[in-house]
Amino acid sequence: MAHFIVNGKEVSVEHNQKLLRFLRDELHLTSVKDGCSEGACGTCHVLVDGKPTKACVLQTDKLEGKTILTVEGLSDWEKQVYTYAFGEAGAVQCGFCIPGMVISAKGLLDVNQNPSREEAAYAIRNNICRCTGYVKIIDAILLAAEIFREGSLPATEEKDWQMGTSVHRLDVEEKVLGYGQYPDDVYVDGMCYGSAVRSRYPRARVLSIDTSAAEALPGVVAVLTAEDIPGKVNVGHIQKDQPTLVAVGQITQYLGDAVALVCAKDQETLEKAKALVQVEYEELPAVHNAEEAMAEDAPLVIEGTANNLQAYKHVSRGDAEGAIKNSKYVLHRQFHTPWTEHAFLEPECCVALPMENGGVRLLTTDQSAHTTLHECAAMLGVDYDHCQVQNMLVGGGFGGKEDMTVQHHAALIAYVTRVPVKVKLSRQESILVHPKRHSMDMDFTMGCDENGIIQGVKASVLADTGAFASLGGPVLERACTHAAGPYAYENFEIEGRTYYTNNPPAGAFRGFGVTQTCFCTESLLNEMAELVGISPWEIRYRNAIRPGGVLPNGQIVDESTGLVETLEAIKPDFDAAVAAGQPVGLACAMKNSGVGVGLPDWGRCRLVVEEDGKVHIYSGASCIGQGLGTVLVQVVVTNTGLPRSSVVYERSNTWIAPDSGDTSGSRQTLITGEATRRACEKLNEALGETKDLQKLVGQEFYGEYLAKTDPLGADVPNPVSHVAYGYATQMCVLDRETGRVQKLVGAHDVGKAVNPRSCEGQIEGGMVMSLGYALTERYPFDDNCKPTARFGTLGLFRANQIPPEIKSIVVEKPGLKVGGGAIGLGEITAIPTAPAIAEAYYQMDGQRRQVLPLVNTPYARK
Ligand code: FES
Ligand code: FES
Repeated sequence: MAHFIVNGKEVSVEHNQKLLRFLRDELHLTSVKDGCSEGACGTCHVLVDGKPTKACVLQTDKLEGKTILTVEGLSDWEKQVYTYAFGEAGAVQCGFCIPGMVISAKGLLDVNQNPSREEAAYAIRNNICRCTGYVKIIDAILLAAEIFREGSLPATEEKDWQMGTSVHRLDVEEKVLGYGQYPDDVYVDGMCYGSAVRSRYPRARVLSIDTSAAEALPGVVAVLTAEDIPGKVNVGHIQKDQPTLVAVGQITQYLGDAVALVCAKDQETLEKAKALVQVEYEELPAVHNAEEAMAEDAPLVIEGTANNLQAYKHVSRGDAEGAIKNSKYVLHRQFHTPWTEHAFLEPECCVALPMENGGVRLLTTDQSAHTTLHECAAMLGVDYDHCQVQNMLVGGGFGGKEDMTVQHHAALIAYVTRVPVKVKLSRQESILVHPKRHSMDMDFTMGCDENGIIQGVKASVLADTGAFASLGGPVLERACTHAAGPYAYENFEIEGRTYYTNNPPAGAFRGFGVTQTCFCTESLLNEMAELVGISPWEIRYRNAIRPGGVLPNGQIVDESTGLVETLEAIKPDFDAAVAAGQPVGLACAMKNSGVGVGLPDWGRCRLVVEEDGKVHIYSGASCIGQGLGTVLVQVVVTNTGLPRSSVVYERSNTWIAPDSGDTSGSRQTLITGEATRRACEKLNEALGETKDLQKLVGQEFYGEYLAKTDPLGADVPNPVSHVAYGYATQMCVLDRETGRVQKLVGAHDVGKAVNPRSCEGQIEGGMVMSLGYALTERYPFDDNCKPTARFGTLGLFRANQIPPEIKSIVVEKPGLKVGGGAIGLGEITAIPTAPAIAEAYYQMDGQRRQVLPLVNTPYARK
């Protein structure tokens, strides 16, 4: 028993427990987030007697007489200041780390009213943010300090929310103050807890499952096996190759495979019951990597398939081999890039609520409520009236929340037991279960003429796609189609293969395969520049694709093509670094916006004038932290002339909001943005001159947009592979003394910047994410195909470790005729960083590095 003060009120805790659990589960102070429960992420920060402390490492019995403060306990003035400062700085993206950041900031500002940038960064060194790159969070802390010193909020003009203005995001307050709900923040009466018993071996036949001891434990609601699934057992984003539960007689595909689901009244009983489920296995030899997978006698990862080849892509145009043969300079190199874990701050969680009609409603964190609906309804064998999905706040995704992880399990438990249930992955389960970025081995040959003009590129890619198809096929396809780079040449050929193994699955991850092949193309181009005797900037400027030019995939690019402008924008920084004798590296990238390659790519939006006399935006497009809600409100304000106060953004759901595809492929700003614009046209007609919304109450206005493209290999001279491409140039400068990164600059062509500050946040966040990819991040396995990393050892950059200067340059280039000219930039920001950094290290020590993370740097880990 302990007594202490929480937010000014005395509390007594009878049973010793983690402070985090007490604050969340009993007091429902949900600003205190549970990102890892193991002291590694910082989302659970609270002040204990004024000192920032992680609530997940404190036991309540140790807190006798102490004073605890959470964001809920800040004064009204402090709440106003932090909300303003984080909004003005553009510091909030997914928001899951933000209340913890605010607590650490308060811990600093209470004792230091005028901190330096370094002091602010140091104060949040134990708070990981995966979205922002920390730059704007540090800006926000310094701004908050200034406001506290001055004693009043700056007098600012009301911004008009037109596209092009850096308005404060609409979700700032709920994320700063922690009252916005992620699924884990939902507590409902009678809610139980569910979790999966996972396979002991990566590959084994399940011989028997005995649930009797677990079922007999008091407090256990149910133990389910594959026999309890009423509909289709397998789920899967494209291929249905992922069993919801592995049945007796079947073979497991990786350690994350679920063999039983346990539902209990509390979390302690849940863990005890899971340990009581008895599973007998026949262990079988596992496939550990792509080389093993392609062997003729390799065991089959997926039963019933002919071999372990998951996808094969061949992209060819012109005569790459002939062009290389006739080139003056030829380079042939092999590259390797590692597996990478998304490490979004919010672990996967879903709350499933039984509906009166016998169905279930899911409250989820995912990248498409409609995809979740399609998969869960098929698994339950019900129609869409009996399965509904509501997107809650999503604490980051980066591609890692495209696949089912917890949703189908929560749906099944609630459907069968008729109790509300929360299924949440522990951080270690999250690290094991969701698909990762593919590890790739790549072989590239490039030929250039005496002026450094690319004549041809020939390449091959070999990838390990792990236990399920997930998005392995499309990732391989993007890796191959973008491997040519954003340059104007004709002769290109690439062959790609991905193989199933018994490792965790690989799938979508910011950059979608392009991060890997861009590392090769851009590294070769840097080496080629030296051979030719020109600068890395010059070789790119000479080869850059320009409006009206033809990409190696045959597509004629439009007026919005702004690669040259990004090169020009970065040139002063590049020239200054070269003139100062600093080691500097440069790289470019292109990335599709929209799914493309002939696939149905629909954006849909419904504008409903509701009783409150406001326009409510309904679209089944998930905001995963990038700020889609704010973008869509800006689109509506711009296209209707209505004031911001008359427009309400509604989070995605499946029963009112029309399916607008996955949040993937940097597509929502463009595709759903255009659908919303089209809905605005109809609303405008009805509004007429009066703009009187009251007259339209009850009416709705629907817009949809199909981004039409040609399939890969289409028999047309100049296929349109994608409706739009974003372009970028990034550079890295090293400090010659320390060998550390001194400066990163990213210049990105975004077409039209809907919210310029949000664009900057994407650029900074993407560059810092790939700083880790280039230098520190790892996701290794042991011999049992088990990931050995914990959250704290993944190698994520901390606020006090980022380069002193991170500069984002937003380049606008009109020309795209849809979506107000806005091109998504979520993914491209993470693509050219690694090759730019590799080149900077070469400039420093003369060593070419073709493997990530880069060796022989001050960041390299043993
Ligand atoms: S939840 Fe406490 S540090 Fe992650
Ligand atoms: S805003 Fe920091 S983790 Fe998303």
